[in-house]
Amino acid sequence: MISRRDFLKDVSLAALAAGAASPLSWAASEQGVVVPGKEGMIVRSFRFLDLEMPDSAFDSWLTPLPHFFVRNHMHMPSTLEVEEYRLSVGGAVERTLNLLLAELKALPQHTVVNTLECAGNGRGLQRPRVPGVQWEKGAVGTARFHGPRLKDVLEKAGVKSSGKHILFRGRDEVPGKVPPFLRSIPIEKAMHPDTLLATHMNGTPLPKYHGRPLRALVPGWIGAASIKWLAEITVLDKEFDGNFMKPGYRMPRSPVAPGGEVKPEDTDPVTALRVKSVIASPQDGAKTRLGPVKLSGAAWAGAADIVRVEISADSGATWHAAELAAEKARYAWRLWRYMWKPAKAGDYVLMARATDSQGHTQPVTPDWNPSGYLYNAVDQVRIHVES
Ligand code: MTE
Repeated sequence: MISRRDFLKDVSLAALAAGAASPLSWAASEQGVVVPGKEGMIVRSFRFLDLEMPDSAFDSWLTPLPHFFVRNHMHMPSTLEVEEYRLSVGGAVERTLNLLLAELKALPQHTVVNTLECAGNGRGLQRPRVPGVQWEKGAVGTARFHGPRLKDVLEKAGVKSSGKHILFRGRDEVPGKVPPFLRSIPIEKAMHPDTLLATHMNGTPLPKYHGRPLRALVPGWIGAASIKWLAEITVLDKEFDGNFMKPGYRMPRSPVAPGGEVKPEDTDPVTALRVKSVIASPQDGAKTRLGPVKLSGAAWAGAADIVRVEISADSGATWHAAELAAEKARYAWRLWRYMWKPAKAGDYVLMARATDSQGHTQPVTPDWNPSGYLYNAVDQVRIHVES
């Protein structure tokens, strides 16, 4: 059992070790904060823990857990008693259930390698700027998730014909007037054989930051669908309309001019991820000697396959195919690399764009929206080649 007090104590020791004057000083700066087990991460928020993966971690097909991003809307549960844990299932079902972890583990187990991306990943690159966590490239990671299928639990409960949406409630601790983090997914996605109740990540029990002991895993969809510290499942006859479904996590149905406004009735919930690639190396602003330069990164597209990643060093006039690494899985990113041979010294802008199996290609101009969701513009880095 880990209490929030213990967790804060851990973090406070780490921060003191890192030279912070007192825990309060992180709230002010959040610079130099070290979160135990998450060393090297970019701290976007400490009050509710939001940790971004550094670009260097894009070199691994499965993201090591210490480098897996964290997105929390509120406080993590202060206690995580795995032995006493129960998952309740109710609403439009024939039988309500109260399942122990052991009962979930007794069901057939399934593994899905999934790239989990926060809907707000890349928000910090949107212009004009929009409010919210200013993620750049790394609110994304890939892990091997394991656990029973949500479908098997729903079938055990017997979903009534009126059951159309599945509502998840996590055990987050809700401060003050913040509404609880409750979200629903449609029954079709819930019954998909790859939608899991995950107990494990990369072969180990879920770490506390990622939802111990149980989270939903809704592959190919924005991270917000995959509720952590899952406590309760309720079968509803319609889509849930609480704060994190409406007005939260919604996208304009048609394009909006940058900086424009959108009426709530002209929006839909954000669900599937979009095609996207990022250049992890070299980093923006890098300097290099004249000679071959290795570009590398990752590309993903939710449930669609990445069919190509192309590189341009001449503002998009010509594009050249990058090499895709062999490791692949339905919902997982493909790592890629490209050996670029600049002909002469100078300043260059390197661009990467991915195309998926549904024929979608990343746009050069970002598709702006007021919440900065699903940013997927062609990635660009500036590099100086010295003679
Ligand atoms: N589940 C709960 N209970 N509370 C949360 O704040 N954040 C969601 C989702 N599940 C969240 C949650 C969001 S917005 C994202 S992007 C993913 O968790 C992040 O998962 P991770 O922290 O394991 O990377």
